[in-house]
Amino acid sequence: MILRVEVMASSSSSSSSSFFLLLLGVALFLSNEATALPELPNLTTLAFEEGYTQLFGDSNLMLHRDGRSVHLSLDRRTGAGFASQDLYRHGFFSASIKLPADYAAGVVVAFYMSNGDVFEKTHDELDFEFLGNIRGREWRVQTNVYGNGSTAVGREERYGLWFDPTEDYHQYSILWSGERIIFYIDDIPIREVVRTQAMGGDFPSKPMSLYATIWDGSTWATSGGRYKVNYKYAPYEAEFADLVLHGCAVDPIEHRTTCLGYDAAVYDSITMSADQRTAMDKFRKKHITYSYCHDRVRYPTPPPECNLGPEAEDFLASGEAKLSYRRRRGKRYGRSPVDSVL
Ligand SMILES: *[C@@H]1O[C@H](CO)[C@@H](O)[C@H](O)[C@H]1NC(C)=O
Ligand SMILES: *[C@@H]1O[C@H](CO)[C@@H](O)[C@H](O)[C@H]1NC(C)=O
Repeated sequence: MILRVEVMASSSSSSSSSFFLLLLGVALFLSNEATALPELPNLTTLAFEEGYTQLFGDSNLMLHRDGRSVHLSLDRRTGAGFASQDLYRHGFFSASIKLPADYAAGVVVAFYMSNGDVFEKTHDELDFEFLGNIRGREWRVQTNVYGNGSTAVGREERYGLWFDPTEDYHQYSILWSGERIIFYIDDIPIREVVRTQAMGGDFPSKPMSLYATIWDGSTWATSGGRYKVNYKYAPYEAEFADLVLHGCAVDPIEHRTTCLGYDAAVYDSITMSADQRTAMDKFRKKHITYSYCHDRVRYPTPPPECNLGPEAEDFLASGEAKLSYRRRRGKRYGRSPVDSVL
């Protein structure tokens, strides 16, 4: 379960016990194309059995015939989820995800790393969370970073998207090294957290597992809980493919580290190209709708790494980001940040 501290006093995540009940998924035969991957060469995808294990949801998790793509559904009985078999310290983690179409208020799809099972009081976490919406309104995406149990210091951001995430697969990736964390959507970096000394233990440092889940977030996910899951539209179906698990697996008993694909030093050396940085800046300028760095209600004094430059500060302080998001709503999805860079 993802732990969180809610932004707008709209919280409480459902307990995992509410996930256990029963039903059938619908078989889909998938043909999915791999999208361009960020800067790391030689990324390979894993078969489900090679790297993952089911977490909950009995038949609401369905492995496709190719053994490499997974269908997760949410119905009245239960959501579903899977996790990596190993814990990893640093690496590149990715999945192509297609979200449930139509009315999906209250539905949460999450792709994240956490070690909450192992370190209850001092857990680390890196999240992509997708929040469903009522018909005709866009899904929203949020990313979050927690380090060493700092749930009191949620480093949350929210964004609109430049495409309809229910229509096609898009790739969502997390790079985690000793130096930085980068979240990507397709090949566009959307957020970078550089480790600073001032962050101290707030920068995730202990091995984490990778998780993918779908669940009922009615109490908070959509307009602070105003719109809830409506099971008349169930099952809500999310598809996961192109599962990439390139990291350094840590054996918790023998403390042995086995790096899949790359040595740990390779992850540390990854930085953004100038084009990627330009694309990230464009994305953020157009699509960010919330940043903890600008939430003066939560953080009268922003956390130490919040130094985004005067332009971004002014932009967010003026409320312009939220306004432009509302204006765009009528138009649905906007232009790709890449179209306007390249
Ligand atoms: C990627 O694969 C190519 C061809 O197999 C190999 O020559 C190259 O060294 C690999 N690069 C890395 C960083 O492993
Ligand atoms: C994490 O928190 C624990 C308990 O508060 C503390 O002992 C430890 O030093 C912290 N670790 C880091 C890396 O800050």
